[in-house]
Amino acid sequence: MNITIVGSGYVGLVTGACFAEVGHHVICVDNNKQKVAALQKGQIPIYEPGLENLIRHNVAAHRLRFTTSIRDGVENSEIICIAVPTPPEKDGSVNLDFIEQVAREIAEVIPGDRYRVIVDKSTVPVKTGEKVADTIHRYNKVNASFDVVSNPEFLREGSAIDDLMKPDRIVIGSNSDRALALMKKVYEPFLAPIMVTDVNSAELIKHAANSFLALKISYINAVSAICEASGADVERVADGIGADKRIGRQFLNTGLGYGGSCFPKDVAAFIATSEALGVPFTLLKEVERINQNQRARFLKKIKDKLWVLRGKKITVWGLAFKPDTDDIRSSVAIEVVRDLVAEGAIVSVYDPKGLENFTRTELGAKTLPFTDPLKAVRDADALVLATEWPEFREADFALAKELMHSPIIFDGRNHLDREMLVEMGFDYFGFGR
Ligand code: UGA
Repeated sequence: MNITIVGSGYVGLVTGACFAEVGHHVICVDNNKQKVAALQKGQIPIYEPGLENLIRHNVAAHRLRFTTSIRDGVENSEIICIAVPTPPEKDGSVNLDFIEQVAREIAEVIPGDRYRVIVDKSTVPVKTGEKVADTIHRYNKVNASFDVVSNPEFLREGSAIDDLMKPDRIVIGSNSDRALALMKKVYEPFLAPIMVTDVNSAELIKHAANSFLALKISYINAVSAICEASGADVERVADGIGADKRIGRQFLNTGLGYGGSCFPKDVAAFIATSEALGVPFTLLKEVERINQNQRARFLKKIKDKLWVLRGKKITVWGLAFKPDTDDIRSSVAIEVVRDLVAEGAIVSVYDPKGLENFTRTELGAKTLPFTDPLKAVRDADALVLATEWPEFREADFALAKELMHSPIIFDGRNHLDREMLVEMGFDYFGFGR
């Protein structure tokens, strides 16, 4: 099929590459000329395992191309996906300026020649599809024939290609049988269960799913405080409750809490939507509060042990908001660095992929960046682990112990082998045990 994807950010690029990989002809449109020029040269603006190869391969096979012209994309496709950012406003509600702008741009160029499906893949509040359809009708002069469907995306950064190629489910929200039939053709090669709903329900599924996952994380984080106070081990508790299939072990990993560009924003958006609809979802406010509090709990652990932080040399391993990405947006690790810098500590930092992005920030300039994790720990009063990169588990802790001023580890993700480290003579502090 001929598919256009408007917006070459995370979701747009990965979706475009995967749609091309299964045999569709895909045009990725972005209004950022430099980004498009770079993509045309095979330069990928984000780090995502496997993405660069997938894009190169499909460009070479003439199934994927990049353009700044929305007209080019819309005229040459029967499916037009919208994958632009929906950033948060200060009050937590969603800024839909980009969505509205793209809807108008589509309206201005969509011809009356044949039927098209406009697919919203961006994360949006319930009822946005109705507004998009209304906008396109109002600004289109040729009475074009189209329907708007909602097709939320559930990919995670770091495992985006696998998540998109082999999803647990594909949600298609459509109020039109004609649009639904075309969408089923788009997803035919994916061999995943398709769940059909109305447009509003599909939009709501996305916010409700992300908020539920965030709730799971806050739940175990609150349990971890009870474990600490009672002498229980949160890891055993998480295994014990997670073994119940109705609960599941995933997203019960305790630590510094959730960050990134999805959960914090989507929980806030779901709260704002519920309030606007007159049915405030107050449980989610507690989810947010618990999440915020994890950082304060962590800082207290560090201060209880090291006492005054001013002038202390602290090494932070991990800056990205999670492993396998260079994305440092809304990363809790960065907030930990901010807390330590604010306390006057001398902070050395290392991250396998996120270091470059971090050193460009204002906070980055107030730290000492290292490209080698072991060099970063030399003379350190303590090591802080803030992102659970697998390589940290394999680090040479014998050498680290020799290099450090005092062998103290604060594991913000319960990621390291506690028993081994304690045996080696480290003072180890994690969450909930
Ligand atoms: C999340 C969802 O998992 C995806 O399904 C969704 O498509 C995406 O948001 C989105 O809306 O675009 P992502 O933000 O890429 O994906 O990353 P996750 O793996 O979900 O992690 C989010 C945060 O939760 C990270 O900071 C991670 O460290 C934290 N987390 C995750 C925990 O603290 N504990 C856990 O058990 C799991």
